[in-house]
Amino acid sequence: MRAHRAEVQERRDRKGPYRSLVLDAPALAGAARPGQFVMVRVSETTDPLLRRPFSLFRADGPAGTAEILFRISGRGTSMLDRVQSGDTIDLVGPLGRPFPSLPGQEIVLVGGGVGLPPLFFYAESLRRLEPARNIHVLMGGRTKGDLVAWEEFERLGIDVQPATDDGSAGHAGVVTDLLQPFLGPSRAILACGPTPMLRAVSEMAARSNTPCWVSVEERMACGLGVCMGCAVPVRSDHGPSYRLACTDGPVFEAREVLW
Ligand SMILES: Cc1cc2nc3c(=O)[nH]c(=O)nc-3n(C[C@H](O)[C@H](O)[C@H](O)COP(=O)(O)OP(=O)(O)OC[C@H]3O[C@@H](n4cnc5c(N)ncnc54)[C@H](O)[C@@H]3O)c2cc1C
Ligand code: FES
Repeated sequence: MRAHRAEVQERRDRKGPYRSLVLDAPALAGAARPGQFVMVRVSETTDPLLRRPFSLFRADGPAGTAEILFRISGRGTSMLDRVQSGDTIDLVGPLGRPFPSLPGQEIVLVGGGVGLPPLFFYAESLRRLEPARNIHVLMGGRTKGDLVAWEEFERLGIDVQPATDDGSAGHAGVVTDLLQPFLGPSRAILACGPTPMLRAVSEMAARSNTPCWVSVEERMACGLGVCMGCAVPVRSDHGPSYRLACTDGPVFEAREVLW
């Protein structure tokens, strides 16, 4: 983990409220693993005081670049939206526990909205290492515009199964409606998205003995294990306990979490 001053090499305006920033950050790009995140200072002043957490969407070690993809959803992300190519931003990372590498298993990625960026990073990294590995993506959103990185997943040759609440793309309903045919012990599910979705995925995985890891969306103030504000209730050998999303997670084995 380290602090970086990174130049924004490119700002990409995506559909609707989604943006991405390609950062010139060789040390970060070389160290980052899928599922990890960065804490970004969204303005050059101390207002807002707290950095905001964003998953890494891509990291290209040889090129020295890392990319984050964000949704403008409040004050901090609106400020980040003012950043232009050539500006410099201040960030800390890579932080947190990444998704596991799962040799030999068929991979099922389940994501919604801003849960999709870390899953894309996983898919792209795995494609580079093992081009023949079976990877499926089940992606959900309120509407078609929330199915971020759909084209990028398809460019990797990955099977994409979309679901939208309003039926504007793919299955009309929630993404977990699509999960049943992808369950089983020879597969592994990696999921990231809103808590109700993660809970539903975890329950289906447990019932079908499908190995499953989830990346939780706790609010984070420090990202460094200091403020204790991101506690996640978990099972432990001694009964119910808590772990910190920022340092023990954000990726947890699904059966560990007390939903
Ligand atoms: C580990 C981690 C990785 C994340 N990765 C991404 C990412 O890749 N892209 C992205 O756009 N966002 C991501 N988020 C969520 C992102 O951090 C928040 O959207 C952001 O902090 C909101 O800041 P704001 O000041 O704009 O919004 P605020 O004014 O603080 O809140 C506005 C809205 O954002 C929601 N929000 C705030 N924090 C979170 C959170 N932790 N998770 C989900 N919703 C939240 C609030 O409920 C509210 O509806 C991630 C969060 C975590 C914890
Ligand atoms: S965000 Fe501060 S301890 Fe996790």
